[in-house]
Amino acid sequence: MKISSVKGFHDVLPDESARWSWIEQRAREIFARYGVVEMRLPIVERTELFSRSIGTTTDIVEKEMYTFTDRDGSSITLRPEGTASIVRAYVEHALQTRAPVSKLFYLGPMFRRERPQKGRLRQFSQIGAEVIGRDDPAIDAEVVLLLHDLLEALEIRGARIELNSLGDATCRPAYREALRAFGEAHRDALCENCARRLELNPLRLLDCKVPECRQATAGAPLMLDHLCDACRVHFDAVRAVLAREAVPVQLNPRMVRGLDYYVRTAFEVVAEGLGAQNAVGGGGRYDGLVKELGGPDAAGIGFALGVERLVLAMDDHVAVQSPLPDVFIAPLGTAAESEALHVAHRWRRAGVRVEMTSGGKSLKSQMRLADKVGAPYVIIFGDDELATGTLTVRDMAAKRDFPRAIGLALPGAELRDALAQLAQQTLERSA
Ligand code: HAM
Repeated sequence: MKISSVKGFHDVLPDESARWSWIEQRAREIFARYGVVEMRLPIVERTELFSRSIGTTTDIVEKEMYTFTDRDGSSITLRPEGTASIVRAYVEHALQTRAPVSKLFYLGPMFRRERPQKGRLRQFSQIGAEVIGRDDPAIDAEVVLLLHDLLEALEIRGARIELNSLGDATCRPAYREALRAFGEAHRDALCENCARRLELNPLRLLDCKVPECRQATAGAPLMLDHLCDACRVHFDAVRAVLAREAVPVQLNPRMVRGLDYYVRTAFEVVAEGLGAQNAVGGGGRYDGLVKELGGPDAAGIGFALGVERLVLAMDDHVAVQSPLPDVFIAPLGTAAESEALHVAHRWRRAGVRVEMTSGGKSLKSQMRLADKVGAPYVIIFGDDELATGTLTVRDMAAKRDFPRAIGLALPGAELRDALAQLAQQTLERSA
C-alpha cells in the first residue's frame, strides 16, 4: 500500500524547487544590501514562548499550534512563526551586548494547523526579517523600503503594501474599549467567533471574513482616529519618508494583524492571483515583546513573507530552472560505458556538469534523454569511437555532428586530456 504525505504537508518537486532557490538567493542579495544577516533558528520551541508573545486569544495559539508533550513532560511546539524565536534568541544570547542594533533574517518552515486550501498549508515556509534596537520612524520606513525592494526583485504580480497604525499602550486601551462597545451594540449581527472574542480580542472584529460581520462592522471606529499624539507623530513621519522615496503604500485603516504583539506601524502585502489567501506577507512593530520575554527594553520591527504564496504570485515569465548540464555523454556498449564513467568523473571534478546514462541504451533513446535534460552537446562514446580514437560531438542546437579526430591510442591519458580540453571549450562556450 502506498503511503501519502500528511494533509497540509507538501513536497516541493524539482520544477518548483528551482523557483524556491531563486527566491531565497534574491532575498539574500537584498538583505545583504540592507546589512541584514542570517539567523538559523530551531523548529521547536517551548510552548509558552508562543502563548506569551503571539497571544492566548489569537487563532494561532487558540487552535492552530502543533503542541506536544515531550518525554520529560515539558510542552513543546512546532514554531508557527519566526518573530518569537528571533526575540527568544536575542534575549538568550544578549545580542544587545554585541551590537546596538540587530538586523536579522531567517527562512524556513513554519507550522499552523489551519484548514488547507490554495495558498494555505499546515507546513509553509517564511522568509522574514527583524530589526531589534531602534524605535524611530526612519527604521520603520527603511523596513518597508526593504520589503518593497524585495517584492520588486521577486517580480511579484500586483504586489501592494498596505499600512496602518495599531496605536500603543497609551491609546489602544481606550480604542479597544470603543470598539468593544461598538461590537456590543451590534452583537446580534456578529458571527459566533467574533461575539465570543468581543471581550478579550475586539480588534479581530475588523478583519473577520464572514460577510454579515463585515456588514455589521462597516461603521466601526478606527484606530487611526484614536491615535495618541506620539503615535500620530510617529506614523506621519513613517509615511513622510515613504512618500519622499516614492514607495507606493496604501492606507488600510481596518487592517489588524493576527498576532497580538504589534504596536504602532503594521503592514501587509497583498498580491494578485492568490484567491482568498491574498496576503503574501505581513509585519509591523513589536516594541514591548523583547521585554515581555525577559530581555531589555528594546524595540523591534519586522516582517515575514510566505514562500508558497510568493511562488503563486510570481510573474510567470520569471524563467527559473535548475542548472542544465554542460554536456551529455552517450556511451554505447559496456567498454565505452566504463571509459565514459571515468571521463565523466574527471570532468565533474574539473567543474563540468556532466549527464550520462548506462551504455545499454540505444543511441536514439540516449539522444532523446539528452534533449530532455537540455544538454547543449552530446559526446557519442561508442566502441567504434574507442577503437578509432575518434569522438563524435553533436551540437544539439545546430543539430549537427562533428567528428573530432583525436587520433590517439585508446584508452590513454592523452585521450582524457583531449576530452578535458573539449570540456573546457564547452564550459567557455556556455559561460
Ligand atoms: P503572518 O501574517 O502570520 O505574520 O504570516 C506572514 C505570512 O506567512 C503570511 O502573509 C502568509 O504569506 C504566510 N502564511 C501564514 N500562514 C500560512 C499558511 N497556513 N499557509 C501558507 N502561508 C502562510 C507573521 O508570521 C509574523 N511573524 C510576521 C512578522 C515578522 N511580524 C513582525 N516580524
